[in-house]
Amino acid sequence: MLLSQKTIVTVLLAAASPVVAVWPIPAHMTTGNVSLLISQNIAITYNGAPIVYTYGFEPDDIRSSAQIIEGGVSRALSAIFQNGLVPWKLRPKNSLKNFEPDLYFGPKWVTVLNITQTTKNTSTDFQSKGGEVDESYNLTLSTAGVATLSAFSSTGVLRGLETFVQLFYGHTDGNAWYTPYAPVSIQDKPKYQHRGVLMDVARNWYEVEHIYRTIDAIAWNKMNRLHLHATDSQSWPLDIPSMPEVAVKGAYRSDLIYTAGDLEALQKYAVARGVELIVEIDMPGHIGSLSWSHPELIVAYDAFPYSWWCTEPPCGAFNLNSSDVEEFLDKLFADLLPRVAPYSAYFHLGGDELNANDSRLDPGVGTNATSVLQPLLQKFVSNNLARVAAHNLSAFVWEEIPLTWNVTLDNSTVVQTWLGESSIKTLTGQGIKVIDSNYNYWYLDCGRGQWLNFANGEAYSTYFPFSDWCDPAKNWRLVYSHDPANSLTEEEAKLVLGGEVALWSEMADGTNLDTLLWPRGSAAGEVLWSGNKDPLTGQNRSQMEVSPRLNEWRERMLRRGVMAAPVQMVWCTQADNSTECSAPAGPGF
Ligand SMILES: *[C@@H]1O[C@H](CO)[C@@H](O)[C@H](O)[C@H]1NC(C)=O
Ligand SMILES: *[C@@H]1O[C@H](CO)[C@@H](O)[C@H](O)[C@H]1NC(C)=O
Ligand SMILES: *[C@@H]1O[C@H](CO)[C@@H](O)[C@H](O)[C@H]1NC(C)=O
Ligand SMILES: *[C@@H]1O[C@H](CO)[C@@H](O)[C@H](O)[C@H]1NC(C)=O
Ligand SMILES: *[C@@H]1O[C@H](CO)[C@@H](O)[C@H](O)[C@H]1NC(C)=O
Ligand SMILES: *[C@@H]1O[C@H](CO)[C@@H](O)[C@H](O)[C@H]1NC(C)=O
Ligand SMILES: *[C@@H]1O[C@H](CO)[C@@H](O)[C@H](O)[C@H]1NC(C)=O
Ligand SMILES: *[C@@H]1O[C@H](CO)[C@@H](O)[C@H](O)[C@H]1NC(C)=O
Ligand SMILES: *[C@@H]1O[C@H](CO)[C@@H](O)[C@H](O)[C@H]1NC(C)=O
Ligand SMILES: *[C@@H]1O[C@H](CO)[C@@H](O)[C@H](O)[C@H]1NC(C)=O
Ligand SMILES: *[C@@H]1O[C@H](CO)[C@@H](O)[C@H](O)[C@H]1NC(C)=O
Ligand SMILES: *[C@@H]1O[C@H](CO)[C@@H](O)[C@H](O)[C@H]1NC(C)=O
Repeated sequence: MLLSQKTIVTVLLAAASPVVAVWPIPAHMTTGNVSLLISQNIAITYNGAPIVYTYGFEPDDIRSSAQIIEGGVSRALSAIFQNGLVPWKLRPKNSLKNFEPDLYFGPKWVTVLNITQTTKNTSTDFQSKGGEVDESYNLTLSTAGVATLSAFSSTGVLRGLETFVQLFYGHTDGNAWYTPYAPVSIQDKPKYQHRGVLMDVARNWYEVEHIYRTIDAIAWNKMNRLHLHATDSQSWPLDIPSMPEVAVKGAYRSDLIYTAGDLEALQKYAVARGVELIVEIDMPGHIGSLSWSHPELIVAYDAFPYSWWCTEPPCGAFNLNSSDVEEFLDKLFADLLPRVAPYSAYFHLGGDELNANDSRLDPGVGTNATSVLQPLLQKFVSNNLARVAAHNLSAFVWEEIPLTWNVTLDNSTVVQTWLGESSIKTLTGQGIKVIDSNYNYWYLDCGRGQWLNFANGEAYSTYFPFSDWCDPAKNWRLVYSHDPANSLTEEEAKLVLGGEVALWSEMADGTNLDTLLWPRGSAAGEVLWSGNKDPLTGQNRSQMEVSPRLNEWRERMLRRGVMAAPVQMVWCTQADNSTECSAPAGPGF
């Protein structure tokens, strides 16, 4: 591979000067060493027309790319000027002055940001299937202080604005903001089309503010999907207005409910940030909470010992041979899907961890024989796929539906894998589209011990020291090492749309959400946007290069209101470079 001369110069400079900490790292970026100031009076245009922004602007018409971009500009400038990062933790102790421009010796100003969207927006911009929206953008900043941002779609503009933010710092003098990196030239585009976070709002209740904040962070990380695992056996917080009893009785408390208005507001908020909110109603297992309102539809609710009937209490699955269940699903989907379809191209039908034993208790079935259950489940899933298709949506299902149960899907269905690389290989080998949430890498709830209680005696001693099933915790380095297409052929890899980090909520709620998701979710975000390999060498990106950027990115997220966990102690982040905190090579460590 040939490096242009300019790139070589920049690479050499970069080794001697501070790292340009853009996260996720752009596909192609060159930077210089000229400092420029930026002021809140910067002139910004969109396709030639000035954008007059106010902080906190929220689009009321999410079909208007002008409003979407005005929202993006408002957030970007707020991030620079209201939440600017003074990078004292990221420079050697007491040396920030050497990094900051001298305000009194005339650095130039960034005077203009001209934004161009080169193709007209279309309806799919705002509710797209993977790959339908071109998220690429080009960003330049000249030493004369002229910035240009061009993209094909409004979503691409939003991505570019988030990069623009990361070029700037707050000055210790207070009312000044600067970039030390001009000239800048960036051409950027995502590697994977589906880059998501799974949030489980059924195991524990989350106030909507926590979901909003998570959508913010998803967008900053250039991720584009929030998968809301909206219901489970433990609780049903999602209001279904045509059947209010479902949430009133199924929620943990009758008012801990996401109303139709809450959902719509979240969907719009997400669209305005180039994020698609994907709702999952998990079934036919994981649906015990429905028995509080519709006990006749559910078998094995809270059956014990739970491990015979499901993977965690309370158990509960749909009857698999019941016209009442089908009628209920007609009504449920007729209510919910028209509210999903304006904002998303997808609906998630769940389908994980169905325990065959449940059907032994099912009055319409009475056996756990897979030969009996398989055709019933095929019919159940096929009916659901038809309901989803009737609203022009594509379905997601968990991998067990095709892999454990041999259920045939339709060609628009995407399968979400979690059990590992061989699942991805098998499915893509069959021509099936996949997103991956490999639990060994991307389950962010793991490694914090058990939530079950262990009675004194055998249970206590068997499970001591109470590690959980997916121990250990997934350190960002482990998260970063995983690419869903790692062991696939080129043909198979084309069917991997991307992936999601998952935060199952048995031991998570609004208090620890941020520290569990971020910045580890950012690590997956970079893998999905840029890949975890250096495009020039094809080698794994080095933690020596990645960790300083992640450290800075964590500080930026903190400034913007997400309580991302520390990556390292400040001793490491203030070191001359990341080798200060590197592990010794070789044996003995
Ligand atoms: C900036 O980079 C140029 C080369 O592009 C170099 O000549 C100059 O010394 C650098 N200035 C500083 C302050 O590092
Ligand atoms: C920025 O865009 C405006 C409006 O189209 C134009 O008048 C101006 O010349 C542009 N500035 C630069 C530096 O390209
Ligand atoms: C964006 O596209 C929609 C059609 O999906 C159209 O109604 C709207 O006017 C467009 N807005 C802009 C600003 O182009
Ligand atoms: C970005 O620049 C590249 C290289 O010049 C060009 O091929 C691409 O079309 C540009 N993209 C946009 C969104 O302008
Ligand atoms: C089904 O129930 C039997 C006890 O009746 C139990 O031995 C078996 O492990 C259960 N199967 C599963 C998959 O849980
Ligand atoms: C089916 O049920 C029988 C008991 O009736 C049990 O022994 C067996 O383990 C069950 N099979 C599965 C797959 O759960
Ligand atoms: C399903 O239920 C119908 C009656 O509603 C019954 O005729 C049929 O045998 C049942 N199927 C199985 C597999 O048990
Ligand atoms: C689904 O798409 C088709 C073709 O674009 C359209 O005719 C139909 O009205 C759509 N159905 C719904 C429910 O939106
Ligand atoms: C699915 O197919 C595999 C391979 O043919 C077989 O081993 C398995 O028993 C089947 N499972 C069901 C539930 O039919
Ligand atoms: C997918 O299925 C639909 C409906 O069955 C069919 O019209 C279409 O041609 C299929 N597409 C592909 C790529 O196989
Ligand atoms: C690169 O990363 C992969 C995946 O984690 C790992 O298997 C491999 O050993 C790494 N290569 C080197 C040279 O460290
Ligand atoms: C890292 O810093 C140490 C001193 O702290 C220095 O000896 C070493 O050369 C630096 N390495 C690089 C790659 O800059």
